[in-house]
Formats: sequence, C-alpha cells, structure tokens
Amino acid sequence: MQKMFMSVPPRYDLLNRILTLRFDERWRKKATRQLLDNRPKRLLDLCTGTGDLALRLRKNAPVETEVYALDFSQPMLEIAREKAARRNISGVDFRFGDAADMPYEDGFFDGLGIAYAFRNRTYKDPDAHKFFAEIRRVLRKGGQFVAVETSQPDNPLIRKLYHAQMRYITAPVGGLLTGEKEAYKYLAYSASDFYTPEEMKKILLTAGFAKVDYQQLLGGVAVLWTCTK
Ligand SMILES: C[S@@+](CC[C@H](N)C(=O)[O-])C[C@H]1O[C@@H](n2cnc3c(N)ncnc32)[C@H](O)[C@@H]1O
Repeated sequence: MQKMFMSVPPRYDLLNRILTLRFDERWRKKATRQLLDNRPKRLLDLCTGTGDLALRLRKNAPVETEVYALDFSQPMLEIAREKAARRNISGVDFRFGDAADMPYEDGFFDGLGIAYAFRNRTYKDPDAHKFFAEIRRVLRKGGQFVAVETSQPDNPLIRKLYHAQMRYITAPVGGLLTGEKEAYKYLAYSASDFYTPEEMKKILLTAGFAKVDYQQLLGGVAVLWTCTK
C-alpha cells in the first residue's frame, strides 16, 4: 500500500479535480465545516496527501487553533509543503508518520479528519483495527472523527452508473494520464466493492465510536461521516 503512494503523478491534484468534477473539493469543504463546528483547539488531517484538507482547515480555523497533518509518503508531503508556501499559508505542522502508529500523545486532538484515504485504510485491510484504535487514542474524549469517502449509492441504477464510471472512465483515464494503471484499477475496484453506509456504520460502532452519523453526497457516491469518541 505504501509503495502505491511513493510517487506522485504530475498534475495529480488537477487529475483529481477533473475525475471528480471538483466534487472532491466541495466535500472537503463540508468536512472542514463539520470539524470546525465544535471550536477545536487542535485538529489533525490524517493521511493528508497533498495537504488539501489541512490547508483548508488552516485557512478557515481561528488562528489559535493548531492544525497538524500526517502522511507516510514523503513525496506527497513535499507537494503539500510546497503548496502551503505557494499559497502563503503557514502554521500547518506537516509530519511524516504512519496512521497505525501516530507520533502524538493520547487525547491530543479535539478533531481528526480524513479525506479519501478512509477506504485505503479499511478496505480488506487486516490492520484496520489498529487504524481505528489509533484514531481513538489520539482523540480526546468527546473529540470528533470526520471522514469523507466514496460509498455505495442506495439506488441500484445510480449504483450501476457509478460503478461503470469507475470502471470505464476513472480507471482507464487515470491510468493513461498518469501511467499508474494499477493504482487507478485499485481505486475503481475498491470503490465499487466498498462498504455500504450501513455496513460502515456497524464497523465504526464496533470500533468504539459513538454518535455515528452519516450524510450521503451526490446520490450516495460519497459519504460524510461524523463520529464522537
Ligand atoms: C488518495 S490519497 C488522499 C490524500 C488526501 N487526504 C486528499 O484529500 O486528497 C491517500 C493518502 O493516504 C496516505 N496514506 C495511506 N495509508 C497511510 C498510512 N497508513 N499512514 C499515513 N498515510 C497513509 C497516502 O500516502 C496518500 O497520501
């Protein structure tokens, strides 16, 4: 899995915007609003990648809110830091580290967000339980866990169209434009086979989260998750 993120295709961000018709950004905005809702002192963007959620949090949070970002791909982190410098956004603590073994004290964060990496960490991942345990460890009691991720639409027709779009557009176009055929095949396959919202709700409750809530986005192709420790 880590190998898959060791190189970042040129124009990676642009490609994501095109393949999602910019919905990725709209949904990060929603996740940001949710995370800022209960006036957090410290926030983490977990699996930050090229830093989009972290930068959005930094821009929208009050100055006294501390924003941290973690990823286990140095190339992704380099792009995130360059992007922050280019946009003149300072004050995000970008760090290298594994989501299953985070370099933060127990109860350090009031809120933790993850965008489009939740599937990677939970889909057929034998270490998924470690991932959830770590999230709970670094969150304070009452802290918020917010995730935005692809999901399964309830409507069978929308679901079929969504799977077809993944298979016949996202996988070949992404593979062709980046040369990373396997990575985009994995994206299409795992997204089409991923949990339904109700299945994921059970997983989150079993992992020990409370007040597990979800909002389906664009007919259910994605979901915004909100849980409390
Ligand atoms: C699809 S990208 C999503 C990036 C970003 N969150 C966004 O909104 O675009 C997935 C990111 O998760 C990171 N990642 C996956 N597993 C990880 C782990 N166990 N620990 C830290 N980072 C991880 C990858 O390196 C990659 O940067």
